[in-house]
Amino acid sequence: MTATAIAAPDTATDPLFAPFKVGAMDLPNRLAVAPMTRVSATETGYATPRMHDYYGRFADGGFGLIITEGLYTDQAFSQGYLFQPGLSDAAQRDAWKPLVERVHAGGARFIAQLMHAGALSQGNRFRGDTRGPSAVRPAGRQMVFYRGSGEYPVPTAMTKSEIDEAIAGFAASAYRAREAGFDGVEIHAANGYLLDQFLSEGVNLRTDAYGGDAAARLQITIEVAEAVRTAAGPDFVVGVRSSQGKVNDFHHKWRGEEEAARIYALLGQLPIDYLHTTEFEAWQPAFDEGASLASLAKRHSGLPVLANGSLHDPDRAADMLARHNADVVTLGRGALTHADWPRRVQAGAATEAFDQTILAPLADLANADRVHAAKQAIGA
Ligand SMILES: Cc1cc2nc3c(=O)[nH]c(=O)nc-3n(C[C@H](O)[C@H](O)[C@H](O)COP(=O)(O)O)c2cc1C
Repeated sequence: MTATAIAAPDTATDPLFAPFKVGAMDLPNRLAVAPMTRVSATETGYATPRMHDYYGRFADGGFGLIITEGLYTDQAFSQGYLFQPGLSDAAQRDAWKPLVERVHAGGARFIAQLMHAGALSQGNRFRGDTRGPSAVRPAGRQMVFYRGSGEYPVPTAMTKSEIDEAIAGFAASAYRAREAGFDGVEIHAANGYLLDQFLSEGVNLRTDAYGGDAAARLQITIEVAEAVRTAAGPDFVVGVRSSQGKVNDFHHKWRGEEEAARIYALLGQLPIDYLHTTEFEAWQPAFDEGASLASLAKRHSGLPVLANGSLHDPDRAADMLARHNADVVTLGRGALTHADWPRRVQAGAATEAFDQTILAPLADLANADRVHAAKQAIGA
């Protein structure tokens, strides 16, 4: 990707800056920061001053909505990474309060992403072993930029009471998110983590109520969404993130449009306010041909959809909205490159290519701050 010069905004990019409402939450525009794990909390999972500055910059930069990195939800098997922040107790909740105030002061809304890593946990200070739907070793290798190495261990299949405990962790964390002042929570059911493991054939071999056809494989997500809604109350925003690909199996696909329609119809019946879909390139057909995942989600769920995946080109992002294939676009790498991406685009300024060294050798904020400081020093 090379630097792109952008003409001053006109009707083509206007859809990006139109206000929108998700549940009870008013958004000043359609631009959101995607959830990104940055393993920069304290060892005990508390948000830090460096994270305060990091999230504050996105709000100052004009993003209408910011979704936190995935926060672990209990003190059993949910933590995925060392130095990952949590929402698993009152002290972790309280550590988020100044960040929520900072983001709100910058004019943005703030949603906490709730994440249980399941079999993809590669750093958990509470437990030395992992849990998943079935005792199947995850594909792929642990992520080095989050301090992992080698294969994933084989998880132990969860008992019914462990499933109940995981669901209760999501619900209690949603309640804490509300107490901390967040505008909502996003249930992470994507990218290969616990809830997505249950949805995935080949990984979920269960023969109880949580395994079998797509509806059974979604059962845990359904129960999490219902428990979160009950805990958080009717006016708190609740979303669900969904994907085909996984961090450990990038090219995974569902069976086809029919299965996607079934999944999104089921999710559409949940007491939630939005779906957040992610694909490598959000506008591409979800299968060999046909509609994108975001537009399938919109069509079959009837819910507002946040779309993610290589949407840092403003025209491409505006096109997703103008065609009604999504209601909000979320940026990952684009936001890491320019915390003020919305303000830049609105001013007609250029956007730069994503620089991989922001995430290497570690994907933490200290590394990113070093890269940005070095660039500033040479005037880049
Ligand atoms: C460093 C990094 C950390 C990420 N962590 C999370 C996460 O915690 N939760 C999540 O749902 N997605 C996570 N993602 C995926 C992003 O939300 C997003 O889907 C991905 O970056 C693709 O969007 P982009 O093309 O705009 O970068 C992460 C991505 C990156 C680059």
